[in-house]
Amino acid sequence: MKVLIVGSGGREHAIAWKCAQSKKVDKVFVAPGNPGMENVAQLIQLQNTEELIRFVKSEGIRFTIVGPEQPLAEGLGDEFLKANLAVIGPSKLAAEIEGSKVFAKTFMKKYHIPTADFQVFDEIVPALSYILKKEFPLVIKVDGLAAGKGVFICDNYTEAETILNHIMNYGIFGDAGSQIVIEEYLQGEEASLFAFTDGDHFVSTILSQDHKQLLNGDEGPNTGGMGAYAPALFTKDLKKQIDKNVIAPTLKGMRKERRTFKGILYAGVMLTEKGPQVLEFNCRLGDPETQVILPLLDNDLINVCEAILNKSINEVELNWKNKSAVNVVIASGGYPGTYEKGYPIKGIDKVSDDTLVFFAGVKKEKDTLLTNGGRVLSLTALGNDLRDAQEKVYKEVEKVSFANSYYRTDIAQKGIRRLGEK
Ligand code: AMP
Ligand code: GLY
Repeated sequence: MKVLIVGSGGREHAIAWKCAQSKKVDKVFVAPGNPGMENVAQLIQLQNTEELIRFVKSEGIRFTIVGPEQPLAEGLGDEFLKANLAVIGPSKLAAEIEGSKVFAKTFMKKYHIPTADFQVFDEIVPALSYILKKEFPLVIKVDGLAAGKGVFICDNYTEAETILNHIMNYGIFGDAGSQIVIEEYLQGEEASLFAFTDGDHFVSTILSQDHKQLLNGDEGPNTGGMGAYAPALFTKDLKKQIDKNVIAPTLKGMRKERRTFKGILYAGVMLTEKGPQVLEFNCRLGDPETQVILPLLDNDLINVCEAILNKSINEVELNWKNKSAVNVVIASGGYPGTYEKGYPIKGIDKVSDDTLVFFAGVKKEKDTLLTNGGRVLSLTALGNDLRDAQEKVYKEVEKVSFANSYYRTDIAQKGIRRLGEK
């Protein structure tokens, strides 16, 4: 069969790589993809949804996996269903669980899904009088999609007032900031869990942990993710708790709201003293968590996708390699602010065969890969435990270079520290 992946980053490279391993698959297409993926997929440039649908029909593609949230929030899932085409990704209404923080938080409150206390505002005056009575730090979030840039942790009133002014008076987020959520600050460690769901039932992955901040020790500005590891070894029943208290009631609630969620539901949770609390839901796989989850997954991803489509996910059991995986992102110096592009990437040919290279912000000129984005590429190594995987991945990361490249040197360290505690 033929499959198509929509998107162009490291997550989509990992999905394409995993699909290409299936005996059932003859060909993987990625739209638009990037030239670093050509080892596993054929790139295809399509201008709009109409062209995409025409391509899927004419190629006889069995199903399409949508990588990023934006096309789902814009209704790509619905367009596929209308055209009678199979798609891994929810409808527009269901994707609001990621696309609108106001919807997600109100929904969680209604269905008793553990999350930080919050209040919604669409005017600055009541928002200001609310924060006057609140303890700091507190968290301000814009309602709509903001590419990870719409969340602010404020340490004092003045900081919060400035942020509120920028969002609500100057409108720097446009429509995405027409409503905001102000919520309680949660303390703890974060973990990500993905649930493959046919709308009624689900199977969930092992836990992974992203590293959102730019600098070692989780300092500096938030980014799209500087690396990840899995499994994130918290207490044994944590995954069960998230399945029972978060995923199951969320899917049930979404059915009740007539927003049945079919696809991949991502729960980002904070592990607090009171138990896991939901920070956010996403309507797709995480980046860079996918780059550690899929290499550890023993199942054929095609079988999992087919079970989502045929509504038989309750018959699937996910099997995992008895290994740990660490992924390190190599970024352009200056990211997530401004950075230069167009530098040649060297040393890929020296990377050991057992290490996976997933490309994101790259372009090709005369057979040379050049940097073309903030997060340029990432490497994943598997090891017998996290320490082993970390050692392996950094040995390989050192072989890759381009002008002004930057990476964190402590990916997975928190997990390794926890190993020592046991
Ligand atoms: P979100 O897009 O809602 O997941 O927020 C992005 C990041 O901001 C999260 O991954 C956390 O690191 C942080 N964050 C969000 N909400 C809170 C909160 N209530 N308390 C502490 N940190 C938070
Ligand atoms: N890893 C965070 C995200 O995919 O949103």
